[in-house]
Amino acid sequence: MSKKIGIVYASMSGRNQRVAEYLQAQLAKMGQPATLDEISQFDSQKLLEDDAFIVVSYTYHDGQVPDEALDFFDDLQTLDLTGKVYALAGSSSIEHEHFGRALDYLDQQLAHLGALRATAVLKINLDADRADLARLDAFCRQLIDFMAFQQQQLV
Ligand SMILES: Cc1cc2nc3c(=O)[nH]c(=O)nc-3n(C[C@H](O)[C@H](O)[C@H](O)COP(=O)(O)O)c2cc1C
Repeated sequence: MSKKIGIVYASMSGRNQRVAEYLQAQLAKMGQPATLDEISQFDSQKLLEDDAFIVVSYTYHDGQVPDEALDFFDDLQTLDLTGKVYALAGSSSIEHEHFGRALDYLDQQLAHLGALRATAVLKINLDADRADLARLDAFCRQLIDFMAFQQQQLV
C-alpha cells in the first residue's frame, strides 16, 4: 500500500506553487500520490495523518518565513512530530543576503521537534531551470527511498 505524503506550499507570485505542483506530479509518476495544500489554508493537524510531508516555501522580509506561513510555523510546536519524515524545498533569490533562509528556520524547528529530514534542503534561485527539475526528481526519489528504508527498520 502506498504511503501518505502531504505537500504544503507558500507562494506569493507563483514559483513555489509551480514547484509544489511539479513535486506532486513527479511523485505520482513514481507511484506515490501526494496531497497539495496552500499553507494559510492548511490545518496543521493533518500532518499527523501523513507518513511524510514536504514544505515548499519562498523567503521574505530579509530572510524570514512568509507571513502567511507563520501560523503553520507556530502550530508545529503543538504537534508530536517525533519520527515524522519531512523534506524542504523552495524558490527564493540569491540576490538577497539570506538566500532561502525560511527553509533553514523550518528545518531547525522540525529537527528540534524530533522530525526526520529525508533529503538535503533544496533551494532554487527564482524560476526552476532544467538542473533544478533534475534536483527535484532526485529529491522525490530520495524521499521515497527514505520512507521505504524507515519502514524496513520498523518491521
Ligand atoms: C520584498 C521581497 C523580499 C525578499 N526577501 C528575500 C530574502 O530575504 N531571501 C531570499 O532568498 N529571497 C527573498 N525574496 C525573493 C523571493 O523569495 C523569490 O522571489 C521567490 O521566488 C518568490 O516565490 P513565489 O513566486 O512562490 O512567491 C524576496 C522577495 C521580495 C519581493
